[in-house]
Amino acid sequence: MKNIILTGDRPTGNLHLGHYVGSLKTRIEMQNNFEYDKYFIMIADTQALTDNAHDINKIRNNIIQVAIDYLSAGIDPNKVCIFIQSMVPELFELTAYFMNLVTVSRLQRNPTIKEEIKQRGFSTSLPIGFLNYPVSQAADILAFNANVVPVGEDQLPVIEVTNEIVKSFNSSYSQIFNEVKPFVPKSKVCARLPGLDGKVKMSKSAGNAIYLCDDEKTVKEKIMSAYTDPTHIKVSDPGKIEGNIVFSYLDAFANDEHFKKYLPEYKNLDELKSHYKRGGLGDVKVKLFLNNIINDLLTPIRNKRKELEQNIDSVYEILFNGSEKASKFAKENLKNVKKAMGINYKIL
Ligand code: TRP
Repeated sequence: MKNIILTGDRPTGNLHLGHYVGSLKTRIEMQNNFEYDKYFIMIADTQALTDNAHDINKIRNNIIQVAIDYLSAGIDPNKVCIFIQSMVPELFELTAYFMNLVTVSRLQRNPTIKEEIKQRGFSTSLPIGFLNYPVSQAADILAFNANVVPVGEDQLPVIEVTNEIVKSFNSSYSQIFNEVKPFVPKSKVCARLPGLDGKVKMSKSAGNAIYLCDDEKTVKEKIMSAYTDPTHIKVSDPGKIEGNIVFSYLDAFANDEHFKKYLPEYKNLDELKSHYKRGGLGDVKVKLFLNNIINDLLTPIRNKRKELEQNIDSVYEILFNGSEKASKFAKENLKNVKKAMGINYKIL
């Protein structure tokens, strides 16, 4: 079977390091090394509106920001079709058919949705669109017959809804959809990168993120204030690695080359960790090392961003061309869906 990859993000803010190790990095690796027939990345503006209906400007502005984040991080528009969800109306037609295959209570029991409803204070004012977003997400995926879906860990229960719809559709009508495989990073710390405060995962809403577009000074300030081990006061004190955010980030970002370049007195992360645990290694030294690593990652991204910001029209053109291509492809697939359902009246 040919692989079709589809993934996406809600344009509610700039992408941060959690997005980078949690999905963007995998996406770029897939773009370069994975066998695929088609590859789509969707900017999910319609989904973002399900909890931002009154904040259109935020979504509108972040569409271009997320697109710049993708392109500056290394997504190649010649290999990947980047598109805007609301510009592919076929997705919403398919959503309408899928809505009849899922119950309200099933969605209300979904752990991700349940948690998100709580976080947003939606318990007594739940928008129908929000509850329905996993169904709409199934349409995003199946409109393209995608079988490979790289996502963050919290999206696994949402993808489960897609697979339930696949089963239900195939048994109700005819077998046209394949099971969808979510791809999450194997490394635990990458699948759920903690925030700078060490409390919850990195996110815009928690205000504990390092953004791909942060400048050098901002990154350094953030890293120097990151949560470490509060009992590690003097350099000579033994330190804890567990829950120490700086070491979590080193787990996610450091490699042996970084040690050669910036800390040649250590061979690798294990040696650095042992020294920290023994005592005699200060936080500042470790933080400055991390800062170098993050800057090595972000410098080329920042430079590319500057270039793209000079040419915003070309970024919009990529999005509009991508959306047109995506719409054409989805339209073809939708014909098969309607045929499978027996609602292709004109041809009957
Ligand atoms: N729900 C995803 C997120 O918040 C975004 C998304 C929308 C998506 N449609 C998708 C992801 C389809 C993968 C496939 O990150």
